[in-house]
Amino acid sequence: MSYLDDLFSLKGKIAVVIGGTGTLCGEMALGLAKAGATVAIVGRSEAKAAEKLRQIADAGGQAYFISADVTARTSLEGLLEQVVAKSGRVDILVNGAGVNAATPILDITDEEFARILDVNLGAILRSCQIFGAHMLENGGGSIINIGSISGLGPLSRVFTYSASKAAVHNLSKNLAREWATQKVRVNTLVPGFFPAEQNRKVLNESRVAAIMGHTPANRFGEPHELIGATLLLASENAGSFITGIEMIVDGGFAAMSI
Ligand SMILES: NC(=O)c1ccc[n+]([C@@H]2O[C@H](COP(=O)([O-])OP(=O)(O)OC[C@H]3O[C@@H](n4cnc5c(N)ncnc54)[C@H](OP(=O)(O)O)[C@@H]3O)[C@@H](O)[C@H]2O)c1
Repeated sequence: MSYLDDLFSLKGKIAVVIGGTGTLCGEMALGLAKAGATVAIVGRSEAKAAEKLRQIADAGGQAYFISADVTARTSLEGLLEQVVAKSGRVDILVNGAGVNAATPILDITDEEFARILDVNLGAILRSCQIFGAHMLENGGGSIINIGSISGLGPLSRVFTYSASKAAVHNLSKNLAREWATQKVRVNTLVPGFFPAEQNRKVLNESRVAAIMGHTPANRFGEPHELIGATLLLASENAGSFITGIEMIVDGGFAAMSI
């Protein structure tokens, strides 16, 4: 085995990528599969998963789709059962289901606030409880929760989303502390701005200009640029002492003041 394989290979590992039907986590799923993991792509839409499964198969990787709705605890419990039945265990979990809205602050309804909090935050707690217990029993694992730069400092127009992501960062650190000695690592992957389905409606012309003015790299990220960070956090060799961090991949956005 080469030096790099020893550090980063995920051969024989089983990864569950919740939100893998979407833009960013779909690409992370492809990266995990290319590094050797067998990947369960999870979301509600089988149609959206099909293209990702094809890309992974074309790259010589192993993946399958399992439908789950993160708003239901029973659905996540069923997901773990199905993956264990198919693959025996789970070593890596990506929690990436996410929803967004650009409602002005005085117009946010209780229903909208609760719905976004439930998908972006409640689901992460449920999933970490269910898969975390499994990993603790198995002697270890890596959980990668998807945060956001809006979780580091509030971002205008996406009030509920920002609050939910800030809580994801906080929850992830808390879980990291709880489970560190039992080799279950919990980290937050923090993407900057990447055009995707859930933020399309927020990215109008003036918003894009404001983002570019605050991004030293002066461009959006491309989904494949999350793969390196994903593999580092996923690998029990390369990432063995990394837990409780916010891994920022943002072209310098979070480093900027004025
Ligand atoms: N794009 C960015 O710039 C950016 C920046 C920072 C953080 N993020 C975060 O990155 C993650 C991925 O987002 P993305 O930008 O790639 O958006 P996306 O393409 O819209 O993907 C989000 C995925 O979440 C899944 N999802 C939503 N509700 C679900 C539910 N109830 N149950 C199961 N799955 C559900 C959807 O899958 P189905 O439709 O198949 O259910 C969808 O594929 C999110 O957590 C997002 O907040 C994105």
